[in-house]
Amino acid sequence: MNAAPQPTPSITTLAPTSAPTSLTLTRPDDWHLHVRDGAAMAAVVPHTARQFGRAIIMPNLRPPVTSAAQAVAYGERIKACVPAGVTFTPLMTLYLTDNTPPEEIARAKAAGVVALKLYPAGATTNSDAGVTDIRKTYATLEAMQRAGLPLLVHCEVTDPSVDIFDREAVFIDEVMRPLRRDLPELKVVFEHITTQDAAQYVAQADAFTAATITAHHLLYNRNAIFTGGLRPHYYCLPVLKREVHRAALVKAATSGSPKFFLGTDSAPHAAHLKEHAAACAGCYTALSAMELYAQAFENAGALDKLEGFASFFGADFYGLARNPGTLTLKREAWTLPESVAFGDAQLKPLEGGATLNWKVV
Ligand code: NCD
Ligand code: ZN
Ligand code: ZN
Repeated sequence: MNAAPQPTPSITTLAPTSAPTSLTLTRPDDWHLHVRDGAAMAAVVPHTARQFGRAIIMPNLRPPVTSAAQAVAYGERIKACVPAGVTFTPLMTLYLTDNTPPEEIARAKAAGVVALKLYPAGATTNSDAGVTDIRKTYATLEAMQRAGLPLLVHCEVTDPSVDIFDREAVFIDEVMRPLRRDLPELKVVFEHITTQDAAQYVAQADAFTAATITAHHLLYNRNAIFTGGLRPHYYCLPVLKREVHRAALVKAATSGSPKFFLGTDSAPHAAHLKEHAAACAGCYTALSAMELYAQAFENAGALDKLEGFASFFGADFYGLARNPGTLTLKREAWTLPESVAFGDAQLKPLEGGATLNWKVV
């Protein structure tokens, strides 16, 4: 028998009486985003373009974006989806494989590609073409180190004998430490960190290592996946962790350290593939990204730290200018739509149907 429907895990706490009613930031950037392609892309790009000046576009299409020429063409398709009058720049990346030739790095740099993405083969959505052993890519990583192109890493081991909740921590010892030792001046972004182990590792690393943090990993612990039934919309990779880890991520994000910056990892999947016996991994947060981050920072009493995290530290790490212009959030209750069109399918935003406290103006 089904249990009665339960409320979704709550993200809100009461605002203190002295709380600000509006918040104006330098226009933020999203340093980790999935927009897919085709009609799905046309549905989601406007959501991000409304809030962010730029976004790092992840290359895990089918087939993946592995060459500079493909990245340029994909970037043009994204730009064609930006609504008239909106300024938004997609920052393109290449998907690193065992066979990415070192010569592709110069072509990528010349084409304006800003980074390469390492997916351990089989670790996450569309990662079948990923790297099977990082040592196979060393010649290419050396070319990246020379060119100053960062490596963005999905940090999870894929060994099925390692517990899914431990895969990030094990990756630090098995892959990250040797990589940092062998290529000390390669810029590396530890993407979507989910554990206290990763937060500590990055905090203690030198200036060549940084990390992105998603809104959902700041707002929820793993209970969210199991509250009142199995909740596929809270399922992403790396999977949500225990409360002690969520608290460590909040501490890192609100610390003011320039090593931690905003990356939504907004990852749209059609609702029927999320509400499925083998639910796809990924949370769709682009529609309300800054609202969710504002709530997370407010819950921590650290709204004053949001601008550095959202608008300064990522650009600084990538060596890009900070955005001109601003984004304003207002304290205003509004209801996030339960679903939006996604090509021929529907897309359900995380927290769809819930009342949010902050609203982008
Ligand atoms: C991402 C996706 O759907 O592309 N999914 C996810 O759960 N985060 C892939 C990724 O970033 O690992
Ligand atoms: Zn990932
Ligand atoms: Zn991602």
